[in-house]
Parts: sequence; structure tokens; C-alpha cells
Amino acid sequence: MQTLQLTNDVYWAGALNSTLRAFDIVFQTKFGSTYNSYLIQADKPTIIDGVHAKFKQEHLDKLQSLINLKDICYVVVNHTEMDHTGSLALLLKQATNAQVLSTKTAALFLKNILHSGFNGKVVEDGECVSLGNKQLQFIHAPFWHWPDTMFTYLQEDAILFSCDGFATHFCDERLFDDRVDDFSEDFRYYFEHIMGPFRKKILEALDKIKQLDIQMIAPSHGPILRTNPQKYIKAYKDWSTPKPSQSKKLILIFYVSIYGNTKKMAEAIAKGASTVSTEAKLVDAANACPEYMRCEIESADGLLFGSSTMNGDAIKPIWDMINILFSLNIKGKKCATFGTYGWSGEATKLMEDRLRGLKLNVVQPPLKIIFSPTEEILKKCSIYGYDFAKSLTSF
Ligand SMILES: Cc1cc2nc3c(=O)[nH]c(=O)nc-3n(C[C@H](O)[C@H](O)[C@H](O)COP(=O)(O)O)c2cc1C
Ligand SMILES: [Fe+2]
Ligand SMILES: [Fe+2]
Repeated sequence: MQTLQLTNDVYWAGALNSTLRAFDIVFQTKFGSTYNSYLIQADKPTIIDGVHAKFKQEHLDKLQSLINLKDICYVVVNHTEMDHTGSLALLLKQATNAQVLSTKTAALFLKNILHSGFNGKVVEDGECVSLGNKQLQFIHAPFWHWPDTMFTYLQEDAILFSCDGFATHFCDERLFDDRVDDFSEDFRYYFEHIMGPFRKKILEALDKIKQLDIQMIAPSHGPILRTNPQKYIKAYKDWSTPKPSQSKKLILIFYVSIYGNTKKMAEAIAKGASTVSTEAKLVDAANACPEYMRCEIESADGLLFGSSTMNGDAIKPIWDMINILFSLNIKGKKCATFGTYGWSGEATKLMEDRLRGLKLNVVQPPLKIIFSPTEEILKKCSIYGYDFAKSLTSF
């Protein structure tokens, strides 16, 4: 596939990566991905974003089929992650008259990515830059999903170049949303995993673009959205808006237990944590898929993690559960840890340290019990659960 025309003067000149099966190591890309780069053939020709270094020559060849690289006036860097800037050094070497337009943060990041001086201009939030017969407007969108990010709006064509926003890891060379296969599940997966931790920031930038006449959203990955673009904007808004709080606060109690000792603790804690204003739900981490727990974890008010100690560590299924928290919106959520042990009992402290590292709010010290809990100890567990529930409510 060569290039694709979006409107009279706007072209896609990106790269397809249909065999990619994981993005940034941890995000699944069942149908590969694309790196979308665009050319605006205005009086002052402009490139929007680039591609992964693996495709830099292909990118250059595509641009060259459309334009003399010396004629390029601007290269807009909406975001500096290397899946979009891997091709930049090579492009700037050829496009010797081009100036890089970016946010201040992106300019700083670029300095540390390119390690060479470049002709750059910082654009402020809301600033317009004239391309002669067309106007670009820049809308800062910090934490979509890096601090450096902005959108670029091409006024005359009513196109929003949204970089990683509204993107999908979905490789289909037909590229337009009305031509490609159904990608709705992948669009949602992308939002949940990549944008999900930054919902507040998503809403802030959505507010800034609500007055714009947007006829097309041209993101940096996957389908170009030209069929009712407002549908996609509404989806982002709905998914980012906090849900009305349930009548009862939800406490999720994850545990992993080899011989049932930690399980007994978990059950007693759950009993104590179930009050008139709290519901406690037990989850055996060894039998639960972390991916399927994402929504419930986000909507929970409190999280408890229990593991016995095995070879000086907590046990893998509980780590798997804790390890998905980094891509969730959970900062400040209340939590605590518990578990039984035989002689050294490192598990609870290790889990607690990790939870603190993820910026959760540890509200109680770990509850550690040696080997199998007695009835009396289980009462203590129940009180521990009650205290945790109390920390979530004002009763
Ligand atoms: C393979 C294995 C390794 C263990 N390693 C440790 C350890 O390093 N430190 C410790 O305090 N307890 C260790 N224990 C003891 C368990 O933590 C203890 O028996 C605990 O109560 C088991 O609870 P559970 O039934 O909830 O898994 C180990 C137990 C097993 C089976
Ligand atoms: Fe990115
Ligand atoms: Fe990206």
C-alpha cells in the first residue's frame, strides 16, 4: 500500500504493521497496528507525526512520492513516543527547511531523544499557525497518554489530528472506519489500557475540543474516523465520566492460598467488612483472570490483597492481579494486605510496598498470621475487615 488521500489536500503516508502482536510489550494487538503519518499539501506543506524507526525508509519513500522533501515547512510532533518519532531524525535530515512544531514538554523530550539540535518552535495551547491557505490550531492534551501530548486541528478541512487519542491498534489497509472490519472491541481495549489511567485528563481535553467542527478524526494508530466522529468523542466522554457511586461501597478482597489458611483469613475479613454500607466481595486470584477484573477494580472503593508467603515472596496469581493496576485509574484508592506464613512472612510487606509504589493509599498495616488461624485469630481478621470498611465510610 502506498498512500491514501483523505481530502483534497491531505494524505496518509504512514506504515502498516500487520504482524505486531504486542504494543509497548504489554498491550495486546490481535490485529497488528498502523503508524499513521499525514501530509497536508498546503501553501506551507506540513507533516503530522511520524512512524516507528523500523519503517522510517518506507515513510520517507511514501512522502517523496507526494512531495519534494525540501518543500516541507513544518513537521508537527503531537507526541514524542518513539512509535511516532522513530523516523524523525531521518526525515529532518532530508527535509532541511522544516521546522518542528510541538509543546514545550515535547520539545524537551525531543532534545533527549534526538540528541542533536533541531529547528523547533513551541506552540501554546490554542495557538494557530498559518500554512498560507490553511490554518492549524493546536490543542494541548497532556496525559493523552504522555505529558507532552497535543492535538492539531486543521480548520479548513475540519480534521482533528489526535495522535494517540481515539486511536486503535488495528491494522486494516482500507483505513477508513466505514471500510475496515469491526474494530469496536479494539477501540475500547485501547482506551481502557492506554487512556484509562488518565480519565480526568481525557475529560479536560474533550472540553477544549467541544466547540470545534470535527468532520474527521485522524489518529496515529488504526482507522481514520470519518463516520460520525462525534460518536467516538462521546464514547471517550462516557468511558471517562465517573460513575455515580453505588449505594453500598464495594470492597474487593483478592487472595491466594495453597492450603486454605489465607483463604480462611480472607473469609473472616470479608465477614467483618460486610456492613450496612459496604459490600465485600471475595476473589480467589488463582481462579480469576486479571483482565476481566479491570472494571470491577476501578469501580471498587477499597482493595485488599492476601497471600501466604512462598519462598520469601507473595504467590504469582496475586502479583498478576496487582500488576494490572498500573494501567488502571486507581491512584489514591484505599487498600491493605494480609496473609499467613510459616517462618519469614515477607508476602504482605512486599505487596504493600508495591501498592504504595502504584500510589494507592495503604490505610492499615498488614495483618500477618502464623500458619493456620484459630477461631480467636479469625475474630481478629473480622475486626480487621470491619476497620477497613470503616475507613471507607463515615459511619
Ligand atoms: C512451597 C512453600 C514455600 C514456603 N515458603 C515460605 C517462606 O519462604 N516463608 C514463610 O514464612 N513461609 C513459607 N511457607 C509457609 C506458608 O506461607 C504457610 O504454610 C502458609 O500458612 C500457607 O498458607 P496458605 O494455605 O494460605 O497458602 C511456604 C510454604 C510452601 C508450601
Ligand atoms: Fe504513545
Ligand atoms: Fe502511539
